[in-house]
Amino acid sequence: MNQRRRSLLVTGGAGFIGSHFVRIALEIGSKVVVLDDLSQSSARGYPMWMRAHHELSIVRGDIGDKRLVRRLAREYETTAIVHFAAKTCVGESVTNPGLYFDHNLLRTHALLEAVRDLPIAFLFSSSAAVYGAPAGAILSESERTEPISAYGMSKLGVEHALDAYGIAHGLRWGALRYFNVAGAHPDGTMRENHTPETHLIPSAIDAALGRREQLVVFGDDHGTPDGTCVRDYVHVMELVEAHVRALEVVEDQSSQLGVVNLGSGHGTSVLEVIQAVERAVGRLVPYSIGERRPGDPARLVADFGLAKEKLGWLPSMNINAMAVDAFRSRMNQEP
Ligand code: UFG
Repeated sequence: MNQRRRSLLVTGGAGFIGSHFVRIALEIGSKVVVLDDLSQSSARGYPMWMRAHHELSIVRGDIGDKRLVRRLAREYETTAIVHFAAKTCVGESVTNPGLYFDHNLLRTHALLEAVRDLPIAFLFSSSAAVYGAPAGAILSESERTEPISAYGMSKLGVEHALDAYGIAHGLRWGALRYFNVAGAHPDGTMRENHTPETHLIPSAIDAALGRREQLVVFGDDHGTPDGTCVRDYVHVMELVEAHVRALEVVEDQSSQLGVVNLGSGHGTSVLEVIQAVERAVGRLVPYSIGERRPGDPARLVADFGLAKEKLGWLPSMNINAMAVDAFRSRMNQEP
């Protein structure tokens, strides 16, 4: 770690994953300034003690505003940026690619330009969507990257930019390729807060609770064992723990972290997720089978060997634990 005290600029820190990260960062004694446009979230997602924490500042603003970013970096003596802010719906990115290239690629480029001459490490939320529709059963970081959605393309574009800035400007960086992040803090005070909610587990919980009419399963002809898409679900608490370890590596001057998969290594189909949600909620999930969703690969499962090797990270929480924690946190939210 740097000699300087760790001071983090966390973009998207009011969102689902970002807020869980901010919590752990405060718990381990980091100073945190959150930069978030609050377009899809609010600081109401934080428990009271976090909102009142003297080491946390929340700034509403645009990550593409270079003057603002430079001012915050100087004022808070930022040592690292943890960049979560993004548009994150794969399906939407196929129908509205411009939104994704603007928010995820162009504004991240502006963010990088704003800090490129400052001694600031950079940790980026990348995605398994960079792999596209791979043939391999288990994906390592050396798998070909051929994204099939604008979301995946925008994330891959940033990875390339980070690599180039590392070479040209000595940027210390890591890009964490998330698989499907799920669950919530077990105390139930944090939430997965997307508006509207499109992700599978919270949508299935809402259907079980009668908060939406039913869940539509996007296709049962995907060439997987039960025909529905297989994903690798990883618990958000374990994912943010990996960020803390990754930060230590990017802050260390001796080696570059680069791209690292964060997944559990287990594949779970949509129907298996529905069963896990039914066990957690104690009610059936009403669902129907619909059309495939454009941009959805049949199967994405991680080889997390590199995360184990470079970060000493070993995820262990299964889909049942994620469904239970997601249900508890959703019960604490207004419908
Ligand atoms: N699904 C349904 N019905 C729904 C919602 C989802 O059948 O109402 C299916 C999807 O087709 C997909 C699976 O459930 O097969 C998971 O879908 P999500 O929308 O929950 O998540 P995605 O796999 O589309 O995307 C998530 C993150 C991305 C990340 C990706 C990596 O949102 O940011 O995982 O695998 F890139």
